[in-house]
Amino acid sequence: MIGRRLATTEELIVLVSPDSDEELATIEEWGRTRSISVNAVDVGNDIDSIYEPGTEYLGVTLGGDGTYLEGVRQFSPKEIPILGVNAGSLAFLASISPTDLTAALTEAVAGKATIDQRQQLQVTADGVDCTGINDVMIEHVPPENPVDRKITRLEVYADDEFIGEYEGNGLAISTPTGSTGVSLSAGGPIHYPKNNTSLQVVPLHTHRLGVRPLIVDAETTLRVVSEGPANLLVDGGRAQTRLGEADVVTIEGAGTAAHVVNTSYDDDFFTSVSEKLGWSVREDRDDTGSSDVGTRTDGTHDEQPFLERAKQAAMDAARAAGPALRELHGQTESIEFKSDKSDIVTEADYKSENIITTVLESEFPDHGIRSEEDVQRDGSSEYTWSVDPLDGTGNFAHGNPNYSISIALLENETPVVGVVYAPETDEMFSAISGEEAMLNGTPLTTTERTSLDECMLLSGYDPDGTFLSHSYHEARGVRRLGSAALNLCYLAAGSADAVWEYDTYPWDVNAGLVIACTAGATVTTADGSQYEPNVGLDTRNELLGSNGPLHETLLSHLQGADALRSTATGLTD
Ligand code: IPD
Ligand code: CA
Ligand code: CA
Repeated sequence: MIGRRLATTEELIVLVSPDSDEELATIEEWGRTRSISVNAVDVGNDIDSIYEPGTEYLGVTLGGDGTYLEGVRQFSPKEIPILGVNAGSLAFLASISPTDLTAALTEAVAGKATIDQRQQLQVTADGVDCTGINDVMIEHVPPENPVDRKITRLEVYADDEFIGEYEGNGLAISTPTGSTGVSLSAGGPIHYPKNNTSLQVVPLHTHRLGVRPLIVDAETTLRVVSEGPANLLVDGGRAQTRLGEADVVTIEGAGTAAHVVNTSYDDDFFTSVSEKLGWSVREDRDDTGSSDVGTRTDGTHDEQPFLERAKQAAMDAARAAGPALRELHGQTESIEFKSDKSDIVTEADYKSENIITTVLESEFPDHGIRSEEDVQRDGSSEYTWSVDPLDGTGNFAHGNPNYSISIALLENETPVVGVVYAPETDEMFSAISGEEAMLNGTPLTTTERTSLDECMLLSGYDPDGTFLSHSYHEARGVRRLGSAALNLCYLAAGSADAVWEYDTYPWDVNAGLVIACTAGATVTTADGSQYEPNVGLDTRNELLGSNGPLHETLLSHLQGADALRSTATGLTD
């Protein structure tokens, strides 16, 4: 999940600890002014009574770290991102101060916060089966007579490999988020918690000098076998049990992450560690802020050139919509027909459109938007976004992975930024006109092939098959894949040498045009005249794109095909 997705937040669920009424009133007032519903749930109660699947929620916790951990327990399984407000006590996890509350919320719902995926752990033992975001403590049971032995012995295995027997006060097994407090004081390492998927095992007051903290991948299954009585506590006691001899505890990375919202009002990680836990390495320095001065929480820079910022926003918007499409992929129940049986639109087209256009509008309120389905807005500047929220809806509805999101920025009628994202393969094609075309950060160039018999051609809609019948004998192959936007990206990337589209809409091709042309493609109409991009809503155009050297040959083929088509239908000039 990425922070831009919060731009479509519809409701807040606020988990409220006692004595947080003032902050809750502030949030309710803030929600009223933005038409965002605010649902308050007292700590100790379940959010299930108000949760409606399909609604876009932001989870807020009002309290200290205890309330925050309770929020993680309730929000994470529902994939609700969490923003923690520190209303009162000293807190490490809940880090927004009440004075920054409304500013932080405003930043989050503008899609300008970031979301970290935090690894959770899954703990199973007799009577315990739960997730935690911090730690599992397995500790000796204090003896009734204080002079009795105060140790526990624990055998630990990583998958099936025996790590050893730990003798001492016990073990702290933590996620990267929970790798501070207890494990630090026991000599454990600091883990940078953002997007870090691992678990660590820190011995508590061990009797052996040679034992070191151990770090394992979150995929590893840790098995702890107690050799006598021990207390098991998850996340400070949110779940607990007493272990006996030969009891087994299994700990591994949980399948669901916690989605933690970070705004510019949060301290960065090492500032928190320095201020709250006495991390002393930065003490003598006054440049303790981020070294990336000018970097906003979404990774863009205030002074970033405008087109870079636009490209980044388009990529973020596409990435924000990707999971919604992946979730609905192949579900054909909600198909509506537009002009004919192949011109379809699904719930996914609308959902993706809402996410993308909300993100773009919140970043560039003065830009116009022309999107294929419902969103058409006039702007007050020379810039307009041309959006196909789902290109290849036919493939999508039938469970075929060849579909994409296409977003272009036009300056007047000229496309200047193009972003095409294929959610199933996580391929992000992007370009700023005249700079470099990229696929996931790797530069793209078109092929140099000159001979048709070595070439792979892509065709869009080909109503009577004349392009196909006229080309496939001579080319190495002709494919009809089903997403015009991706076809142009394949031309840019060199997996195709040419692309033919009989009648595309501007939103199908505007982004792909920037990407293909920037990678070196030549694009014309079927008679060789210049292809005129536009943002219009109902103009369909034919388009021939090629690597350049093949263009003349292909144009003569198309003119031959055109002649064939005219003969077949009895129409001649
Ligand atoms: C269609 C696809 C298809 C192309 C059609 C487009 P849609 O877009 O790009 O490949 O041949 O002309 O309309 O309807 O899936 O967004
Ligand atoms: Ca399309
Ligand atoms: Ca579409």
